[in-house]
Amino acid sequence: MALIALASAKGAPGVTTTSLLLGALWPRPVLVAECDPSGSDVATRMPAADGSTLDPQTGLMSLAAAGRKALYPELVDAHTQELVGGLEVLLGPPFPEQAGGLQSTWPQLGPLLSRLPRHDVVADLGRIGVLTPQNALLASADAALLLVDTTPSSVVHLRHRLRSVADAVGGAYGSPLHVAVVAPPKRTQTVREVRDALTATGVELAGVHHLAYDEQGAHLFQGQTLSRPDKLALVRSAGPLVAELAVAVAHGSPLPQAPVEAYEPGDVAQDAHDEHGPWTGAHR
Ligand SMILES: Nc1ncnc2c1ncn2[C@@H]1O[C@H](COP(=O)(O)OP(=O)(O)O)[C@@H](O)[C@H]1O
Ligand SMILES: [Mg+2]
Repeated sequence: MALIALASAKGAPGVTTTSLLLGALWPRPVLVAECDPSGSDVATRMPAADGSTLDPQTGLMSLAAAGRKALYPELVDAHTQELVGGLEVLLGPPFPEQAGGLQSTWPQLGPLLSRLPRHDVVADLGRIGVLTPQNALLASADAALLLVDTTPSSVVHLRHRLRSVADAVGGAYGSPLHVAVVAPPKRTQTVREVRDALTATGVELAGVHHLAYDEQGAHLFQGQTLSRPDKLALVRSAGPLVAELAVAVAHGSPLPQAPVEAYEPGDVAQDAHDEHGPWTGAHR
């Protein structure tokens, strides 16, 4: 199924949080894969489905070892774990030192994760630069979501990286590049300014969304349990973004016409999970 790559250029944090958020809201079966050589954060932040701690040794490293001779989709299941709430994850290397052992794995990961038979994959690439090894996954991605905050340096670094990411991503339909601007809910004007600064590069973007800066909401992905997560600004702001991405990567479906939207607090479309809440979605 589809592969959606999440990344930031220098400066913007929130890639891991947003990857888990997208996974939690995704309308189809999904696996969140931590493909970040700087080391796993999910393993230390999130409890397993049964409340125990996740096994940091089961994930990308164990998958790479098992697939040393041949990596194929049927191998992946044995190396994933379930988070509390039901989301399936493939943990990244516990520490950056271990990621050196993945050198020959990176080029194989994109083709592997983009053809899992039953899951879309949200891949957390962390911070990408010119030479970061996880860039190899972009060639197999159906879409990329780039995160940026509203600080000038973050915007400048993303502007600089947009063209090379656009050239690297496969994407079968229209532009495969989506952007999430992380900003406090009321900063809609600033988000528009960031959008304008990015579109001025001439790189075609499928959509630029306002993702709420919401410290309380982000705690959900630090393992905290919060009541009514569907009411949190972070979760509500992700609704239009998830809807756009899920349609964009549904093979055979046309890309919706460039919805360049801002998140208007209190005016967010209902997401697809209203019936049962975002934490009991299709991935369960
Ligand atoms: N949308 C957000 N609003 C507020 N805080 C956030 C948001 N996204 C992430 N954070 C916080 O920022 C820090 C870094 O987030 P993380 O997702 O680990 O970033 P990255 O993977 O890019 O390093 C964490 O403390 C996280 O809780
Ligand atoms: Mg991260």
